[in-house]
Amino acid sequence: MKVVVIQGPNLNMLGLREQNIYGPMKLEDIHSQMEGYAKQSETEVEFFQSNLEGEIVDKIQECIGDADGIIINPAAYSHTSIAIRDAIKAVQIPTVEVHISNIYAREEFRHTSLVAPVCAGQISGFGPFSYHLAMVAMTQILSEIKALKDSQAQQAQAQKPA
Ligand code: DQA
Repeated sequence: MKVVVIQGPNLNMLGLREQNIYGPMKLEDIHSQMEGYAKQSETEVEFFQSNLEGEIVDKIQECIGDADGIIINPAAYSHTSIAIRDAIKAVQIPTVEVHISNIYAREEFRHTSLVAPVCAGQISGFGPFSYHLAMVAMTQILSEIKALKDSQAQQAQAQKPA
């Protein structure tokens, strides 16, 4: 199983940026923690960060045939990007939306996520631990999909004439 983690604008500034909101952890440190969990659950993980909306759309499209799941923090684009929402919807790959801060406890313009309706679920407000929770959620989603596929394959096998 492979999960692609997509990080939106300004998340490369974690550790420097608004530490009172996002904390002192750098993006690389968050990624190594995720990698640790992925190893335990025998999941391959790839990380991608961009400050550009179109590059994020391209990366989501490139996940077709390459990734089983997507974890995305679209950052400020969560609140504005119909293009990212449409890309997630188009690729039909289970996607978990993540936010470090609780977007519902902040300015009103952050209360709406345009991507939330096309994601399997959203995790918001647990600091960098949100990413760990997203990995746990994604692992669960992927194992449920696998169990469903396995049982469908078994049923198809059982229905085959001898
Ligand atoms: C964020 C919340 C967004 O509103 C903000 O623009 C970000 C980070 C978060 O992880 O809490 O850049 O996505």
